[in-house]
Amino acid sequence: METLFSALEARPPDPLLGISEALKADPRPNTVDLGVGIYKDEAGKTPVFAAVKAAEARLLETQNSKAYEGPRGNADFCAAIEDQVFGPAAPARSDGRTVSFSAPGGCGALFLAMSLAGRVSGQGRVWISAPSWPNHIKVAAAAGREPLAYPYLDAATGTLDFAALVDGLRSARPGDIVILQGPCHNPSGVDLTLEHWRYLGDFCARQSLLPLVDVAYHGFAKGLEADMAGVRAFLEACPGALVAYSCSKNFGLYRERAGCLIVQTDTASGAQAAASHVAEIARAVYSMPPAHGPAIVATILGDPELKQSWTRELTSMRERMAELRRGFADALNRALDTGAFAPLAAQSGMFSLIPIQGPAADALRLQAGIYMPGSGRINIAGLPGDDLDDVALRMAPFLALHLGRAPHQ
Ligand code: LMR
Repeated sequence: METLFSALEARPPDPLLGISEALKADPRPNTVDLGVGIYKDEAGKTPVFAAVKAAEARLLETQNSKAYEGPRGNADFCAAIEDQVFGPAAPARSDGRTVSFSAPGGCGALFLAMSLAGRVSGQGRVWISAPSWPNHIKVAAAAGREPLAYPYLDAATGTLDFAALVDGLRSARPGDIVILQGPCHNPSGVDLTLEHWRYLGDFCARQSLLPLVDVAYHGFAKGLEADMAGVRAFLEACPGALVAYSCSKNFGLYRERAGCLIVQTDTASGAQAAASHVAEIARAVYSMPPAHGPAIVATILGDPELKQSWTRELTSMRERMAELRRGFADALNRALDTGAFAPLAAQSGMFSLIPIQGPAADALRLQAGIYMPGSGRINIAGLPGDDLDDVALRMAPFLALHLGRAPHQ
C-alpha cells in the first residue's frame, strides 16, 4: 500500500558526510580519505586521548546519578570553556555579562546561537564567509535565518582579501548575524590576524551586527593561548557577541557531542534574559544537553595532571599536522615542478584548498582513489605521512590541468 512517504524524494548526500559513505563501499586497497574533518594519526586511526580515557574511568567510578543536570548542562564545563575562550580575567565575566550553555556539539551551539539571534532581531540574516563549512548554511536555514555570503579569499592567490571581506559586510543590516571563524578557517586554513579581529570587533559594534564566532579548532593553529588572542580582542571590542565552541576536534570527542554556546552581552540583565531564551529554544529541540562529553572536558580541565596530558597530546597533533603540511606542499611542488603550493605549508589547522574541484574531484576519486569534497578542501590529517609523494603524484595530472603545465615525472 502506498503511504505519504512513497512520493518523498531523497535528498542528495551531505557534501562531507557523503564522502565517508562512498569510501566505505570502495574495495580498492590504496584509497586515501581527505574528506570529513577528523584527526588521524600515523596509523590512520582517530585515537582517544589518554586524558579522555583517564577522565572517563574516573567518571565511571564516581558518577552516582544520571538525573538531568538542567538546561545549561554541566556548570563546570561551561565555566572551563569560558576560561578557555576569555582567559582568566575578562571584565565581561566578572561583570556577569556572559552566560554559557552545554550544547550537543559545536553544531548544536551554532543552532542555538542562530535561533537566539532570531529572537534578538527578528529579521536578522546570516552572513557566512565564501567559502565556509557548508553546514553553516544549513544550520542558518534550519534556524529560520536567510544565509548570505561575504567574500573571504582572493581568487587569484588564495590569500585573505580583508578589504573585500569588509566591503561585503558593509551590506549587512543592523541585527544581521556575521559568522566569523576562530583559528583554522574551514575550509581554507587562512586565518584573520590580530589586527583584523580588532578591526572587525569595532566594525560589528559600530554597525550593530551580531557576530557569532565559531571556534571548532582551538589549539590546532599555534597553541591554546595564541589561538584565542584574536577572538579575545574581538570580544573586548564588541560587547554583544555569541561564541560556539566545539570540543570535537581538540578533545577528540566527536561522537560525544560536547559543545558550548557562550553569550556575551552589554549588561548582566541582558545575559540573564538571553539565558531564558536559550533554555526555551533548547527545551523545544532536545530538552536537555548531553552530559558525558562535557563531564569529560570538565574533568580534564579541572585537573592539572590531566590538563597537562591533554595539552601535550594536542601539541603533538598540531605539530604533526604542520609537518604534514610542509611535507605535502614540498611533494606537490616536486611533482609539478613548481613553487605554487608553498602557501599550503603556512596555513593553519586541518584544512586547505587545492585546485581540484567539482567534476575534477569526482575524477580524482574514480581514477586515483583519493577522496575529497568537490569544494577542493583536503583534510591534512588524512594524508599518509610516509607516502606523501605517492599522493602528490596521483593528484598531479589533475593539478597540472589547472596550472596549465605537464606533471614533472
Ligand atoms: C568537517 O568540516 O569535515 C567537520 O567539521 C565534520 C563535519 O561535521 O562536517
